[in-house]
Amino acid sequence: VSTAPATKAVAGQGSKGPRHVAIIMDGNGRWAKRRHLPRIAGHRKGIEAARTVVRAAGELGIEVLTLYAFSSENWRRPADEVSDLMGLLRRFIVTDIDELSESGVRLRIIGNYRALAPDIVQLIDNACAKTAQNSRTTLVIALNYGSHAELAGVARSLAERARDGLLDPAVIDEDMIAGELDTGDLPPPDLLIRTSGEKRLSNFLLWQLAYSEFLFVDTLWPDFGANDLAAACEQFSARERRFGGL
Ligand code: FPP
Repeated sequence: VSTAPATKAVAGQGSKGPRHVAIIMDGNGRWAKRRHLPRIAGHRKGIEAARTVVRAAGELGIEVLTLYAFSSENWRRPADEVSDLMGLLRRFIVTDIDELSESGVRLRIIGNYRALAPDIVQLIDNACAKTAQNSRTTLVIALNYGSHAELAGVARSLAERARDGLLDPAVIDEDMIAGELDTGDLPPPDLLIRTSGEKRLSNFLLWQLAYSEFLFVDTLWPDFGANDLAAACEQFSARERRFGGL
């Protein structure tokens, strides 16, 4: 991100900390179930965890934090749960945007969020516009996001331009495709974290994660905190990345 500040040196992290961390926040339902609470209680706790982690990311010098909040497959959940999640999202944007903005957070959305309820689309557009000039941390929220749909969209748009004579198919290369993705102007994630013990990508950032380090932790998302993020960054720093070289 050209506008993002250089990664700050943080105790124990040095210059090798991840610039971009992506998280699959999993385990809200199980967290609630263990406490004999409704699933929505787990999602509510999940929002609190997200709040904590966004704050911690700024303190750790992480430039970009991407959170998978709602996948294009999550519509298959019961209507009640989808509507609860949308309610929480609404409230999160309304109640948190000022504080996020004051702490230098720039909000970005990836995924087909325009298919959400019109009032949410409006809230999101306002929140993104309001924080567009911030440069400390970029918070990317994946909403109605699915990697296959994203890639199909890129193929469609390039094909349309070629059909209209605006693009020579011979010039389509990896950089062009990367630039056409929803994440076009962002660096790829250095580190992917999935909580709750599941070891799947669930159609998340398939192109962008090609060279990322993966970290699967057993902690359920509502229990994931600032210390867990710091520990993940330390583990990342200890890994050797070769990007296909030696
Ligand atoms: C996984 O738990 C979580 C989700 C489906 C996404 C919801 C995420 C939040 C409410 C937190 C952050 C939100 C924002 C807007 C930053 P699960 O229901 O799949 O858990 P389970 O696998 O234990 O059932």
